[in-house]
Amino acid sequence: MKQKGTERTQHNGHGNSEIQQYGTVVNRPISLDSKVRQTNCEKLNQILADTITLRDMYKKHHWQVAGPTFYQLHLLFDKHFAEQAELVDTLAERVQTLGGVAIAMAHDVAETTTIARPPRGRETVNVQLFRLLEAHEQIIAETREAADAADEDGDLGTNDILVSEVLRTNEFQVWFITEQLANTGIEEKGGAEAAMPELAGSRRGGH
Ligand SMILES: [Fe+2]
Repeated sequence: MKQKGTERTQHNGHGNSEIQQYGTVVNRPISLDSKVRQTNCEKLNQILADTITLRDMYKKHHWQVAGPTFYQLHLLFDKHFAEQAELVDTLAERVQTLGGVAIAMAHDVAETTTIARPPRGRETVNVQLFRLLEAHEQIIAETREAADAADEDGDLGTNDILVSEVLRTNEFQVWFITEQLANTGIEEKGGAEAAMPELAGSRRGGH
């Protein structure tokens, strides 16, 4: 985890005004070891940063989408944006519930997310859709891993949120996005990059 937020606060002239540093956990009487809460806050913050990024990617695509499917995708992207925004709040409040500090601001999210950065300009519908699928799959993979670990640690509340809200919402949205790509070979080839290799060249272009 990067700790640049602290430097920025000081650079902004507000002095050392933090009451709790990012990456720390305070005590919570919820019968969970502080080491478990610390570990799960780190995992939740990674999923939170990636979910904020996916949420914002949906709004970007909602605004910038082009072509004959404009209206249906304009609406679908906004629906998924709203559902991802709910997940952002749930994840952030779980971090706070565990005694941690939720990542929040765009600069900190940009430094933390592992989702490939899209260009500022508009892209074709298919590239938009493949970017979304790639982001969903990454979040799904890290959510499954974190849910398993939380279960083993006895953090059942975190496991429940990750499985019943984050995982299931992302899997459900992948169904809707994948069906928009029904004629591109994605279901046969099994992955966004296999079906659209040119996207692979643009990955992490801005990092
Ligand atoms: Fe709108």
